[in-house]
Amino acid sequence: MRQGPRTGEEKHLLRVLRGESLASPPIWLMRQAGRYLPEYREMRAKSGTFLDFCYTPPAAAEATLQPIRRFGFDAAILFSDILVVPDALGQKVGFESGAGPRLQALDEPEKLATLRSAIDLQHLGPVFETIDRVKSALPKETTFIGFCGAPWTVASYMIAGRGTPDQAPARMFAYRHPEAFSRLIELLAQASIAYLSRQIEAGVEVVQIFDSWAGVLPPLEFEKWIFAPLRKIVVGLKAKHPNTPIIAFPRGAGTHLTKCVEGLGADAYGLDTATDPVWAVDETRGRAALQGNLDPLALLAGGAALDREALAILDAFKGQRHVFNLGHGILPTTPIGHVERLIELVRRGRQ
Ligand code: CP3
Repeated sequence: MRQGPRTGEEKHLLRVLRGESLASPPIWLMRQAGRYLPEYREMRAKSGTFLDFCYTPPAAAEATLQPIRRFGFDAAILFSDILVVPDALGQKVGFESGAGPRLQALDEPEKLATLRSAIDLQHLGPVFETIDRVKSALPKETTFIGFCGAPWTVASYMIAGRGTPDQAPARMFAYRHPEAFSRLIELLAQASIAYLSRQIEAGVEVVQIFDSWAGVLPPLEFEKWIFAPLRKIVVGLKAKHPNTPIIAFPRGAGTHLTKCVEGLGADAYGLDTATDPVWAVDETRGRAALQGNLDPLALLAGGAALDREALAILDAFKGQRHVFNLGHGILPTTPIGHVERLIELVRRGRQ
């Protein structure tokens, strides 16, 4: 097995992000806080809107900690949402239960003028207070992850005003109004740097940038709206916080992963379900850690399918800098017992 630098670090996730490979990889799951947990559903049922919940520090801190208490994951991810950034830029954001996000669509270039010229971090004060609360309650072996959405993914919701199957509204906007779109992407890149820096100052130890819609753009557009702004964020953050590892998750990026690993400068890359780990390991050649990439449906299915898929992933990443995760968020109907089984499989042999 490749020997990484000796860091003296106890936290498994930080060790892997800083260069080591472990016999049993650290594990956390995207969307590990949320609706598949009965204790979360119970709390949510008594609260107001989803955004209110995100902005109530005791509730958001409790939701962050629930999966840690129940499963002992190696990392806690801040309970919040990527759409608090448009909210802090002055766009109206709401969530309809069962239907997803609803924003006042920025479907004409003129409407961009309704946004603030920079993110209002004061508006996000409750998020930083949540971080402060979680920080003091986490077990010493648990790494604390902050996050934001990547400019392209956040912009795609801002323009369409909702989730769409292929982000066609944002793609059309970018083709028709490239200058206006470029201003929006730049605004979001700067907002992301400021927001993540503040999260780090409040106490998160790692940040993940979710580019959930990185898989819908052709190469020239990928370069402009995904690669370049992600690069800007990584460079901006590293200048301020050189020791905070960054995980980039360009979901669906496919062969663009190679370009990302070569040029983005992140410490780790999240792989989606469709990416072959053997190929990704080959492309990465130890230059970054890799995170992923169990099919959330295999976790939902459980039984022999879960065992087979999880073991295949462990096998493919053996000896590599690997963080075990899903290829996308956990599904709300996932049985608790399947998550327990997965952790057992991943931690077999851990001292
Ligand atoms: O556990 C965690 O990972 C932390 C919390 C978290 C949420 N959203 C809570 C949430 C994180 C990291 C996110 C990220 C997020 N939000 C992404 C990127 C990751 C991905 O899944 O692609 C995106 C695209 C969003 C935007 C968003 N928020 C959508 C599309 C929806 C509706 C669909 C859905 O999954 O419900 C949300 C709502 C949301 N965000 C919920 C939760 C727990 C459900 C709302 C509720 O509980 O009432």
